[in-house]
Amino acid sequence: MTSKKKLIKAEQLEIVYPKRKGSETTPALQDISLTVEEEEFIAVIGKSGAGKTTFLRSLTGFVRPSAGKLVVNDIDVMRTSKKKIYELRRNVATIYQSFNLVERMTALDNALCGRLGYIGNIRGLLGLFPKKDKEFAYRTLVDLGLEDRVHYRVDQLSGGERQRVAIARALVQQPQIVLADEPAASLDISLTKFVLNTLKDLNKQNGLTVLVNLHDIELAKMYATRIIALQRGRIVFDGEPEKLTEDLLEVIYNEYEHGEASKSNE
Ligand SMILES: Nc1ncnc2c1ncn2[C@@H]1O[C@H](COP(=O)(O)OP(=O)(O)OP(=O)(O)O)[C@@H](O)[C@H]1O
Ligand SMILES: [Mg+2]
Repeated sequence: MTSKKKLIKAEQLEIVYPKRKGSETTPALQDISLTVEEEEFIAVIGKSGAGKTTFLRSLTGFVRPSAGKLVVNDIDVMRTSKKKIYELRRNVATIYQSFNLVERMTALDNALCGRLGYIGNIRGLLGLFPKKDKEFAYRTLVDLGLEDRVHYRVDQLSGGERQRVAIARALVQQPQIVLADEPAASLDISLTKFVLNTLKDLNKQNGLTVLVNLHDIELAKMYATRIIALQRGRIVFDGEPEKLTEDLLEVIYNEYEHGEASKSNE
């Protein structure tokens, strides 16, 4: 049996955001130790503010860990050069919670941005994408049901359509790892399942490694082979979906009302 490559290694990772005026600094993430192997499909769950987005962003060096160790694709994210970080971001595609699309560009051009890591920003700015890249971006949008929206500007698209453009851009990047932050957020259930099925197919057929932040526990259980639950920046569960008990879910989510109330008092 060949052993699978360890794509992500985190050891006692801690992330503290810079102090905001008048508020305490509590780490957004603390004592995060885990290993992710290639071909895993992981759902990260936890209530709002638990640290899910922070965790995904740390993996491509968008937030800097304050302590511990983090190695992604053999690159030590905390100590490496800018050049290596760009290399890392080519192999690790992110679908953001806020999509991060270029509003004034068309769906097709946004999807093509997934190829920038291959051809460089300057050629990209000039629209000098190889024909095969354009065809690939077009096909991906069509596969995601956006055939008649390809040439629309993104600011003319609905939330669900924008989300699919963001997904297309990530897939067009042909990454080794996809990080998806709440890809279900502005989609109806059939589209959500379509998106998760797309990621699942790529996971099974192409060995794509997927880490997805999800609010919906049922979806997490349905698609993921491993669930990581965060509570106040700490891992409180890491294992097979079947082992995530109702009791534990209760513990993870029961402070919802309290948490929300204290948030609104800030
Ligand atoms: N840029 C930032 N500066 C300061 N604090 C931040 C920043 N981003 C997030 N935080 C804080 O870090 C903690 C974790 O936030 P994060 O966005 O990772 O949570 P989340 O689990 O993704 O929540 P949600 O489900 O609402 O998206 C929260 O307390 C949040 O307020
Ligand atoms: Mg988030």
